[in-house]
Amino acid sequence: MEKLRYIDTHAHIVDDAFREDFDEVTGRLREAGIDRVMIITLKPEETEKAIALKREDPLRYQIAAGIFPEDVRGITEESWQRFCRLAADPMVDCIGEIGLDYYWVKDPEERALQREFFIRQIELARELNKPFAVHSRDAIQDTFDIMKEHHWHGLMHCFSGTKEMAAEFIKLGYYIALGGPVTFKNARHSVEVCASVDGRYLLSETDCPYMAPVPKRGKRNEPSYIPYIVRKMAEVRGVTEEEMTETIWQNWERFLRMEPVK
Ligand code: NI
Repeated sequence: MEKLRYIDTHAHIVDDAFREDFDEVTGRLREAGIDRVMIITLKPEETEKAIALKREDPLRYQIAAGIFPEDVRGITEESWQRFCRLAADPMVDCIGEIGLDYYWVKDPEERALQREFFIRQIELARELNKPFAVHSRDAIQDTFDIMKEHHWHGLMHCFSGTKEMAAEFIKLGYYIALGGPVTFKNARHSVEVCASVDGRYLLSETDCPYMAPVPKRGKRNEPSYIPYIVRKMAEVRGVTEEEMTETIWQNWERFLRMEPVK
């Protein structure tokens, strides 16, 4: 049987959680056939570390750079400009993860600031002609409204909304990335979304070090666990794992090139 090629579209492998055994983690993902990994970077030091890794293995790694919703608090004009310069680096493929997180933030002014920087970063992605990756927690309607008004190429990371909502995002051309929760017993939404949406918009992700899939649930997650997620997605959609990996592969290529779905 031909070796399957997997994709992790959301991996925080330059996070401190992997500081101790970084080389082992990247070694395991190569061995497991995780042939595409998008590294999510949320600080300049992380982006630089990811760029160094991508130089060694440029086809395997993609890089997303973004200002996370909770980090907009401390932002200065200088740090914004620095971020814009890094985002423009040709080694950076995507702007993310960006978006809204109302779960931890109740203050209306701070929520407004999150919306402002979400919009600014979508507009930056458009200027740079790069797609964007979205984090949305307890803020799905505001997220949707902004992505409708400021329409550009993007994906919803760790989508946890309903299948109806997923279909609305897809109508606007946005992709839906699913991770560990699709393997959880109590994650009804994730399974329903996986089963029902147009497969041409589905992507796989770990969100490591968080959200480890069953049977690794509760442990530190890593890209080499992607097959557990894709296997479950294939089962839910009633296709072979081979078909599922191939669909996700086509979707990812198309997403990065920002081509329309045909
Ligand atoms: Ni993330």
